[in-house]
Amino acid sequence: MSLFTRGVVGVTSWPPIERLITSTSAGQALARRFVAGDTRAEATDVARRLNQDRLLVSLDLMGEAVTDPDGVARATDEYLKCLEMIPSEGLEANISVKLTQLGLAFDPALAAQSLDRLATTAREAGTSVTVDMEDSRYTQATVDLYADAQARHGNLGVCLQAYLYRTPADLERILPLGGHIRLCKGAYVESPEVAHQGSDEVDAAFARLLMVLMEFEEVRPAIATHDPRLIDLTLDLAGRRSGDYEFQMLYGVRPDEQQRLRGFGHDLRVYLPFGSAWYPYLTRRMAERPANVAFFLRALVK
Ligand code: FDA
Repeated sequence: MSLFTRGVVGVTSWPPIERLITSTSAGQALARRFVAGDTRAEATDVARRLNQDRLLVSLDLMGEAVTDPDGVARATDEYLKCLEMIPSEGLEANISVKLTQLGLAFDPALAAQSLDRLATTAREAGTSVTVDMEDSRYTQATVDLYADAQARHGNLGVCLQAYLYRTPADLERILPLGGHIRLCKGAYVESPEVAHQGSDEVDAAFARLLMVLMEFEEVRPAIATHDPRLIDLTLDLAGRRSGDYEFQMLYGVRPDEQQRLRGFGHDLRVYLPFGSAWYPYLTRRMAERPANVAFFLRALVK
């Protein structure tokens, strides 16, 4: 994890900076690059446009670390409405959920129950649910809950983070469950006790996991990166694979590359966040790339 990333995460966790970013047009302009809008209707419009460009979508209602049952009920209801809307609007989409949004941090049984409801409704809607991976305090519970739900429903997927030392073992555990497995580098600040720190180590760990994942025909690998070298490696490995797979990228990040890969006939799913709780998501995007911080500062000065 670079000094820059740690610095941005530290500074943006300071309440006056949060106020500065969320209340100024500079912060809102940056958020608009990465977020579909505040409402489901806005997300639907963007999803329809992406589908017209033959890009698949994963709808993500932003909001994490929910601390009360009412918050969980609101998030679950909103996701259920998304799942009903997917077939009624004819969208090529699924949903991505964070388990702390479903109550994992204070009531794991409630999170499991809510995930069950989403998986059942997703099945009726002919689609799937991807479980996002949050920081390492939640990895074990997330993998456990995912494995249990996937074994019963069969229409889920989960995200694994290449930077965690434990991920090869998690991958081995969940591969036999089928479903889709999203491989990403990892977006949270983690300690050297649990995660690779340097970008070269993270990239090497990603490549090793990718090779295992692409060998396994019973799952649908979802390669979630914008990194040109890892995309090239995926394309090499894909030549030897008969099962399907997809690339995944974030809304607003490398849209030309999204179109280019789609143009060559590869499935590409765009992770499309919406909702008003965009601050934590935006800070992770800022921490990934100095240009995003520069964009904000330039807009602020103007
Ligand atoms: P890297 O950071 O090396 O970026 C490669 C290139 O991509 C950069 O040079 C730049 O061109 C472009 N780029 C990357 N980030 C950018 C940004 N923020 N703004 C503009 N350009 C950027 N993480 C996690 O911990 N849990 C999760 O559940 C998920 N889910 C997820 C879903 C999907 C679909 C994606 C694509 C990513 C995630 N992530 C995630 C985030 C992931 O862990 C990682 O932080 C980002 O994808 C950035 O890493 P890259 O692999 O893109 O490489």
